[in-house]
Amino acid sequence: MALVPRKKKRKDPALSLDGDAPVGVVKFSEVGIFLVERKMGSSRRSFLTELARKKGFRVEEQMSESVTHVVSENNTGHEVLELLEKQTGICTTEFTAALVDITWFTESMGAGKPLELENRHLLQVKRAAARTNVVPIAPYACQRRTTLDNKNRLLTDALEILAENAELSANEGRYLAFTRASSVLKSLPYNVTKMDDLREVPNLGDHSRKVIKEILEDGTCSEAQNLIQSERFQTLKQFASIFGVGVKTADKWFREGLRTLDELRSSKVKLTKEQEAGLLYYEDLIKPVTKAEADLIRQIVEATVHRFLSAAVVTLTGGFRRGKEYGHDVDILITHQEEGKEEGLIFQVISSLTAQDIILYDDIIDNSYHEWKSKETEKFDHFAKCLSIFKLQKEMVNNIEPSRSCRKDSSAENEPRRSGLGSHAGTIQLITAAAAKEKNWKAVRVDLVVAPYGQYAYALLGWTGSRLFERDLRRYAKHFKHMSLNSHSLFDNKQSKFLPAATEEEIFAHLGLDYIPPQERNA
Ligand code: UTP
Ligand code: MG
Repeated sequence: MALVPRKKKRKDPALSLDGDAPVGVVKFSEVGIFLVERKMGSSRRSFLTELARKKGFRVEEQMSESVTHVVSENNTGHEVLELLEKQTGICTTEFTAALVDITWFTESMGAGKPLELENRHLLQVKRAAARTNVVPIAPYACQRRTTLDNKNRLLTDALEILAENAELSANEGRYLAFTRASSVLKSLPYNVTKMDDLREVPNLGDHSRKVIKEILEDGTCSEAQNLIQSERFQTLKQFASIFGVGVKTADKWFREGLRTLDELRSSKVKLTKEQEAGLLYYEDLIKPVTKAEADLIRQIVEATVHRFLSAAVVTLTGGFRRGKEYGHDVDILITHQEEGKEEGLIFQVISSLTAQDIILYDDIIDNSYHEWKSKETEKFDHFAKCLSIFKLQKEMVNNIEPSRSCRKDSSAENEPRRSGLGSHAGTIQLITAAAAKEKNWKAVRVDLVVAPYGQYAYALLGWTGSRLFERDLRRYAKHFKHMSLNSHSLFDNKQSKFLPAATEEEIFAHLGLDYIPPQERNA
């Protein structure tokens, strides 16, 4: 379809620049377009570039990792891939961008905003690396199997420091680039020893490759080393590791001159209830939670839940469900086969646990699913839940056999804990500093989530993680299936209907993905 009339034609409304954004103002930064010149010609490409930019789209001159849509006209998918490979010298399995036909571009210009991708927009390609014997690595974390057996820890540790620094600097693009690079290396079944081992590996941008190259040559990454030493990184990391403190608050305190927890404690800074609890139990909360502790907490919760609903199901989710031996908190999902029975349960359970002297802090958030109209993918869910701190008797932990050997998993140890849910009024049980020293218990962060049975499979999938696995599942659903996935449901935008699922396997099947068990979702 020609947008720019080579001969005089009736004016296409999509070409109209009326009411467009001032040149240079990017309205849709999440979408990056690369226009393929082949068969389009350079003048038409320039025209379309200018048109899109005037409409607030980001158009890249070169193919890069920030490109999300490769737009071409009258080319097959295979031709576009071949061309990109020739132009960039990079193997095309690296590109996560969608290869789309000009129809998507024309329609988006007409609509004045980037349209959701539909199958008819996508160029068909076989992304198999037929010329080599290497199995191509899929670009989305939800298409790969990532166990805890990380064969490239030296590389991923460095990339994760850079990702963490980007997150602490609120730079989401960089955070994602380094996280994706680290994640793909975790999925490799081999130890990378030379750059050539990465020929078929997607999601590695220039910066990540530079880091990997330096480590392979010198055994260390100077940028990561400098960060670890830097006062800003150390301080922000510590502040953001307080329960209830996000990166914006950590940065604000740093800019106000605060450097240590003691300075924070003695400052006039107004803390939320959550942050007060976070500071009060800080020393305990930064200690990794063991699998044995998590199992015990699940049992305690189950016993209490069963007082009210004897047939309720209480499941350990999060990192422990993925097979981790250590975590920063305990994530527990509760449901009951008779939908509706679970209503109000969270209040009963917390009040009973409080009466048993098990709760140090709690913040109950009631179910808000019915007030929530949007079918859009969202970061957080609307389940009834309680963000809490448990008082776990050390004696009880010593008395139970750990379900597995407590092998140290360094990546899980002392991870910064960050609650993304902002501040809420909560209740805290106060202890004195002297009592804290002699105490025979440990404070442990616990998230209790109650899901109605009809949404349970989605809740289980959403709360099992990892964070990147979940993000990529949602991205995959949106870009390739035109569906919206969240922890409550999957909505098929083409059929305009919700797709019910009783198991995680059914959700993967709806998405046309191979089933990945929890132990292989450690992306
Ligand atoms: P966690 O932050 O607890 O991560 O969230 P984790 O994988 O268990 O890691 P550690 O060991 O505790 O550090 C568990 C999963 O729950 C989802 C995320 O997908 C995450 O992977 N989650 C978390 C939500 O859906 N909503 C939230 O509010 C928090
Ligand atoms: Mg967790």
